[in-house]
Amino acid sequence: MTAKIVIVGSFNTDLTSYMERMPRPGETVSGRKFVTGPGGKGSNQAVAAARLGADVTFIGRVGQDVFGDLALKTWEQEGINTRYVVRDPEHATGVAPIFVDDTGENSIVVVLGANLNIQAADVDAAADLIAQADIVLTQLEINYDMVAYALQAAKRRGVKTILNPAPAGHLPAEVVALADFITPNETELEVLSGKSGLTAEQAARSLLTHDGQTVVVTLGAQGAQYVRQDATGVIPTFKVNVVDTTGAGDAFNGGLAVALAEGKPLTEAIAFANATAALCVTRPGTAPSMPCRDEVEALLASAK
Ligand code: RIB
Repeated sequence: MTAKIVIVGSFNTDLTSYMERMPRPGETVSGRKFVTGPGGKGSNQAVAAARLGADVTFIGRVGQDVFGDLALKTWEQEGINTRYVVRDPEHATGVAPIFVDDTGENSIVVVLGANLNIQAADVDAAADLIAQADIVLTQLEINYDMVAYALQAAKRRGVKTILNPAPAGHLPAEVVALADFITPNETELEVLSGKSGLTAEQAARSLLTHDGQTVVVTLGAQGAQYVRQDATGVIPTFKVNVVDTTGAGDAFNGGLAVALAEGKPLTEAIAFANATAALCVTRPGTAPSMPCRDEVEALLASAK
């Protein structure tokens, strides 16, 4: 059965410069290459999920500008349902200037524009699809009241939710409580929990408010750690040649959403998400670097 995933999230046009090393404050360095491409955490996760075989609906806003055209073209090419995307008449499409150095590390500025103007009516318009979804997935590059609204809309209809709290931000505990799966990296975990100096497990545990919840902390090259009230464990990832880590978290979330929506057990779903992210970092860019299903299955099979 095809997994049905609804994403309430962001699109940004990524403006990526590749360079030997990042500039220090006040310094100018020469870059090797500049690429404009589709990005934004929500959209990257949608592209990942679609390439992995899911039926994906995107709810979000882009401007009435060329970057908005790029968003629509990308989603149409990937077979993503764009019926609930609004072309905002007053706000520009989000953009993200990105620096990537020779080790594959990145630093990103987001100017979120139309992403911050998603309205409750945009989510309400897709109520029927939300009710039929296996998973509703959201992130923190949209207005936070809409993060809460999307999670509530899903929970009211008995639909499982994933909250990817990226980029790092504070959310009220009652909003975090609406997520069945919370997927921070270590920095995002520290900010979301408001606790520093704890192990990932301790900080993750502090977010849990009920039995049904799972925190999955992404640990980069170490894989990912899941924490539930009754269990924890680390699922190691794959050793790969890292070219560009940008979008790795998005690949992980897209992969996790598909695997959970397909009913895979948690540890298997995390291994699937790890494989998706591992393949993503072997290529430059964000949305364009998302792997397809066959590649993920092949990497998983190679580890058996
Ligand atoms: O996670 C990577 C993404 O973060 C980039 O595509 C950029 O647009 C920012 O949203």
